[in-house]
Amino acid sequence: MSFQQPVTHIQGVSLLSIIEEFGSPVYVYDANKIIQQIQSLKNAFDGTDNTIKFAAKALTNVQVLKLMKQNGVGVDVVSFNEGKMAELAGFLPEDIMLTPSNVSRAELQAAVETGYQLNLDSIPAIETFGQLYGPTKKVAVRINPGVMAGGNYKISTGHSQSKFGIAIQQLPELLTIVDRYKININGLHVHTGSEITDVGVFMQVADILLSTANQFDQLEFIDFGGGFKVAYKENDRVTDIDLLGKSLVKKFNDFCLRYGKKLKLYLEPGKFLVSEAGYFLTTVTVVKPTPTITFIGVDSGLNHLIRPMMYDAYHHIMNISTTQAETATYNVVGNICETDTLGAERILPITKVGDILSFYNAGAYGFTMASNYNARVRPAEVLVENGKARLIRRRENLDDLLRTQIL
Ligand code: LLP
Repeated sequence: MSFQQPVTHIQGVSLLSIIEEFGSPVYVYDANKIIQQIQSLKNAFDGTDNTIKFAAKALTNVQVLKLMKQNGVGVDVVSFNEGKMAELAGFLPEDIMLTPSNVSRAELQAAVETGYQLNLDSIPAIETFGQLYGPTKKVAVRINPGVMAGGNYKISTGHSQSKFGIAIQQLPELLTIVDRYKININGLHVHTGSEITDVGVFMQVADILLSTANQFDQLEFIDFGGGFKVAYKENDRVTDIDLLGKSLVKKFNDFCLRYGKKLKLYLEPGKFLVSEAGYFLTTVTVVKPTPTITFIGVDSGLNHLIRPMMYDAYHHIMNISTTQAETATYNVVGNICETDTLGAERILPITKVGDILSFYNAGAYGFTMASNYNARVRPAEVLVENGKARLIRRRENLDDLLRTQIL
């Protein structure tokens, strides 16, 4: 991926031809990039029995889940419905890890009865599980290590004020419940946050988790979560995956020796696998100079890509319709009746109506966080695989918007 020269083709297929064929706006994913990321993670964690469980919430399209499966990647889901999507992609229930937040009793039961590997993140949920199943089913627990890390507060999930996980200080309470109902805890899980660059943080959290692990004698796996940072701009800091792999594998193998059993190591990356594989293509509808700023309006907005407004996320923007050298500074905005700045103060080639703007890093939490706000339809999704572009989700229409309303 280049942040300086526009990416105009994926596997030889031109992005302009994709927008011509499938319309605008459209999410486009490069299967090769996904496979390359899988491979680099597998290489980095070579040396122990590991499974990559794709955090499906980043990109739940069933065709992408199929691609994951074909390439030996498992899946982590956060709702029962996501689990059903994974099953549609060919995953077996026992290969699906469900890590819900504030799970209802009904969803918990549905997951256990379907055969998903459940990962519970509160003591009340563990108690419910114990009352329902005692020692007859296995379950994992999500620990909150009390460590602040991640790209920003909203995507930090392992600190002491976070709603996620069972606080490490509550371990005695957890053990009491586990003992009371003779619950078979077969896994421990942690996910500290998204966009963690510092390998030291992962190691610190691993230490916390592994010192806890000694308290459970039926473990089969330890899940270290996701949160690996990729580049969103030129020279951006990223997680050193090779260093992380080497250090964590060593620590984990040493632990297994002490524990007396070879456990499985799980990872749950979302962004790492799909962020850079995605491009979101939009069409310029208006160029609007004002006394202070020149706006570029596109046929999309925060309804399709919420990350800039929700997290102040930076998504690189390229005009792929022009090669002209002269540039200007623009604010790229959407068509939603809200302030929906997609990119502020961007230097772009002189841009005109009809040009195509491509947003980078659109593979993770792009489409999956899209909405129908302002009664606008959600875009199409296209996967480029084996040198061919194919539609993997059609664009919505007015009927889709009305389908659930009682008219
Ligand atoms: N595992 C669990 C239990 C998670 O909650 C998450 C993300 C992941 C794995 C994957 O994290 P990743 O490798 O993608 O950083 N919508 C936000 C990110 C929220 C992440 C929520 N949990 C964004 O667009 O930045």
